Amino acid sequence: MKTFGFLMISTFLVLFATLLPYSSASTTRRFHFNVEWKKVTRLCHTKQLLTVNGQYPGPAVVVNEGDTVEIKVTNRIAHNTTIHWHGLRQYRSGWADGPAYITQCPIRSKQSYTYRFKVEDQRGTLLWHAHHSWQRASVYGAFIIYPRQPYPFSGSHIQSEIPIILGEWWNDDVDKVEKQMLKTGAGAKVSDAYTLNGLPGPLYPCSTKDTFTANVDAGKTYILRIINAALNNELFFAISNHTLTVVEVDAVYTKPVHTKAIMIAPGQTTTLLLRTNHLSDGEFLIAATPYVTSVFPFNNSTTVGFLRYNKSKPVNHLNRRRLITTLSTRSVLPDMLDTKFATRFSDSIKSLGSAEYPCKVPTAIDKRVITTISLNLQNCPENKTCSGYDGKRFFASMNNVSFIRPPISILESYYKKQSRGVFTLNFPEKPPSRFDFTGVDPVSENMNTEFGTKLFEVDFGARLEIVFQGTSFLNIENHPLHVHGHNFFVVGRGFGNFDEEKDQEKYNLVDPPERNTIAVPTGGWAAIRINADNPGVWFIHCHLEQHTSWGLAMGFIVKDGPLPSQTLLRPPRDLPKC
Ligand code: C2O
Repeated sequence: MKTFGFLMISTFLVLFATLLPYSSASTTRRFHFNVEWKKVTRLCHTKQLLTVNGQYPGPAVVVNEGDTVEIKVTNRIAHNTTIHWHGLRQYRSGWADGPAYITQCPIRSKQSYTYRFKVEDQRGTLLWHAHHSWQRASVYGAFIIYPRQPYPFSGSHIQSEIPIILGEWWNDDVDKVEKQMLKTGAGAKVSDAYTLNGLPGPLYPCSTKDTFTANVDAGKTYILRIINAALNNELFFAISNHTLTVVEVDAVYTKPVHTKAIMIAPGQTTTLLLRTNHLSDGEFLIAATPYVTSVFPFNNSTTVGFLRYNKSKPVNHLNRRRLITTLSTRSVLPDMLDTKFATRFSDSIKSLGSAEYPCKVPTAIDKRVITTISLNLQNCPENKTCSGYDGKRFFASMNNVSFIRPPISILESYYKKQSRGVFTLNFPEKPPSRFDFTGVDPVSENMNTEFGTKLFEVDFGARLEIVFQGTSFLNIENHPLHVHGHNFFVVGRGFGNFDEEKDQEKYNLVDPPERNTIAVPTGGWAAIRINADNPGVWFIHCHLEQHTSWGLAMGFIVKDGPLPSQTLLRPPRDLPKC
């Protein structure tokens, strides 16, 4: 009997393993997330860390394309919370998108909310994270969608998959870090370490035991799922002596690109093929360090882990240290200031655009919105002290509107047709004044912003173009802009000021990359196109959390379409109340 039972289990396991990757049978997958504190130690520093189910990073959500997902989130802390499924399209199910005060009121202490949505027409690596204040500093995890069809890449057998989530660790309570920043008007304290799957690695004090190691066999092909869950930093990522092949970004297949390193912005995901083609045993460095374009203080350290070929014996800690100094992370990663590398890498990414996975970029548009993305230096209110630059305080804005979160959810007030006092539909569709956006003196200009909760609205199915125009207020800087509810096509990018006539001619309308987060070049612009076919209210914001807090955000509304299948669903019964 015992043997029989064992056989049953192992058969089930084998079936499950083969079924999951290429299944056509869709089903409902249920998860339960408890948002709760957990004592965690890093860098010799023990603190209460906000987690899901006590895990750091949080649990991976693994589903098949076509599945319905139900994730019950229970708030077991004293503060409010929400969870966002970053990059999941949420077709008609905006109620499950997650950004606090945009599509839902936060889940209050001791309350639960079940996020229910269907995963359709996207496949690959995404992430989930908290979307309330700075909670996503530690509340994040992988969201993996297995495709209906076999992978279009490789041809060779995939040995296994290695998710690597890049993050940041603070010794301090991040809630305090954020509050302090908003109170003083200064920049936020920087994190104490970067992490690979929550582990800082041997280059930080007290961290050798907290080092990520991936064991591999020689002569195989692996899938690496790289996720940038860092709060405030774009990162370079590389593995010493290995070429990486990009095959998918933001859950959309790309033409394969071979590279020594990648640049990945917060909110972006990159799926790589790794061929373990070294014959010798040994360990190789896995490393990530910031890509820096800002004049603000930053953490210039490097997180390191190891790729260990299985035949090699575990190397002791002393050897590891030696290995790191000999190989020197510098030779593995691009220089932190290497904008040329970042640009070349971003330019190399193109949609796969195959018969099976066509690139559906709109070749004509119904509406173009041009918006500046700026940091601001606001005059200090009288009788106050501000500790930003020059006795003023920092803000950020789009078209000179610094986004204010309303007291209740925008989606709910839109649905109930009660927008008064919540939001207005007058987001400026052009910069309110024209000037040399990227050429003005970064500190002597009048850099005050206005404040508001302004959105714009489009009809269902509108082909929308948005141009994000960087400015040189305070400093030129690379900003990762994220759009909720839709993927977009990056049809153009450049340095300097966008020229409506000339730059259009150079657009890629054949195979532009399709994604949900775009790193807008420092001192430059990016043009994206969206098939606005998802009714609801959708947030657009900089995925550097510090900039979102300062107001670098806006939103747009897609109206219901004519067919019943083109309308926003009804709000779920358990939708949290404010
Ligand atoms: Cu990844 Cu609005 O967030």
